[in-house]
Amino acid sequence: MAHITLPTGVPSSIDPLRGSMADFARPVGRDLMARTAGVVPYIAARVAADVWPYSRVIAGAPVTSVRGEVANGEIRRGLNFGAQDYLSLAAHPSVHEAAVRAIRDYGVHVASSAALQGRTDQTVLLEREIADTLGTEHTVLFPTGWGAAYGAVTALVREDDHVVIDRLAHASLQAGAHAATRNVVAFDHLDVASMRAALAAIRAVDAEHGILVVTEGLFSMDSDSPDLRAMQATCREFEATLLVDVAHDFGVLGPGGSGHIGRSGMLGEIDIVMGAFSKTFAANGGFVTTRHAGVATFVAAFGGPHMFSNGLSPMQVAVVRQTLAIARSAEGDRRRAALMRAVQALRDAIVAGGLTCLGEPSPIVPVMVGRTPVARVASGLFMRGGVFANLVEYPAVGLRAARFRMQVQADHTPEEARAAATIVLAAVAEARQRLGLSPTSQSDRLPSG
Ligand SMILES: Cc1ncc(COP(=O)(O)O)c(C=O)c1O
Repeated sequence: MAHITLPTGVPSSIDPLRGSMADFARPVGRDLMARTAGVVPYIAARVAADVWPYSRVIAGAPVTSVRGEVANGEIRRGLNFGAQDYLSLAAHPSVHEAAVRAIRDYGVHVASSAALQGRTDQTVLLEREIADTLGTEHTVLFPTGWGAAYGAVTALVREDDHVVIDRLAHASLQAGAHAATRNVVAFDHLDVASMRAALAAIRAVDAEHGILVVTEGLFSMDSDSPDLRAMQATCREFEATLLVDVAHDFGVLGPGGSGHIGRSGMLGEIDIVMGAFSKTFAANGGFVTTRHAGVATFVAAFGGPHMFSNGLSPMQVAVVRQTLAIARSAEGDRRRAALMRAVQALRDAIVAGGLTCLGEPSPIVPVMVGRTPVARVASGLFMRGGVFANLVEYPAVGLRAARFRMQVQADHTPEEARAAATIVLAAVAEARQRLGLSPTSQSDRLPSG
């Protein structure tokens, strides 16, 4: 089901394989409501052609096999490679027990901002446990990961300061940067030399103001990670501050789930760490954690959604405490090992079938397609064929860089991963055939987008 009731007739002038949502992002005209209307027939055309794989509705928990309704109202069943429950903890019995216990002991609602009395004794324990895991001191919690990212950047950066940000950093970080200052410079993805050049250029003309450098521990569209040691050292050199978003790697990569920071030997060394609970930790919510008391106080006081939104519910706090405890335990090690076996099986099968997997092994397996029409048609086909996975297209990624983001869970078996790869490969081959392209060279980036 789409978010809206779609019109039945679709104008034949709309080609569902062309264009993108970006075409509608800057409407003109004085009537704010009327000028939104053009987007509806575009989505209707894509739904009718089965090339709008978004807004799926799942009936049940996000486990390894799911049943769900797609945008045209049809019911599909399949292997679930479209959810971010990386360690398969959302359905873990001890996590459910912790949630039920929290409801029994604390009720369902904190009924206050965290800045007032929206924290319980359990919230304080969670703050401590996050700091302990990441080698920091002070943790500030947020109702969402988005709010943590936006809140951290806007709390610290003033209009004359600068943000130097990885070109592919998440929308929440980009939004925070652009809300805080006009002085935003994007550096080439993961490129420390490009970041250094940006810092040097700023310091050559501005010795007065602050610079926040922003990156992620694991990039969610590319499955790759920066050289944190080099980045932090370069920041020190230019008196800049480093913020690392560990939404996708914390809990699931690195020793004891310490993430890319842990596996880089940088625990306690990064200026500011922020993350989200919505991936490995089976809950909504986010955090900012740091060794600097002033930074934490600023983020709490001026980081919008910490103060001006309700605190995390007792159930969310209990779920995150329990999932974090599992992630740090021997069971966490076993789950990470099982996850990586399925990841490797998926990557190997995709590559053996002639497509490219971007980045390094992680729970995110980006399968490169390139040409958007091929990716759109294939996404409809594999959803019919029994795989739930996400189509990522422009503007979320570059033009002609369309891909599928397959997200693996610890409970996926290598056999399931191989079965999913077979279905996805067949879908891409058929899509290419339908579009009159050669079925052999599958990863292509034709200029027609
Ligand atoms: C890198 C990154 N940061 C922040 C967020 C926002 O997290 P949440 O979904 O918990 O609001 C996301 C989620 O998509 C993300 O991928």
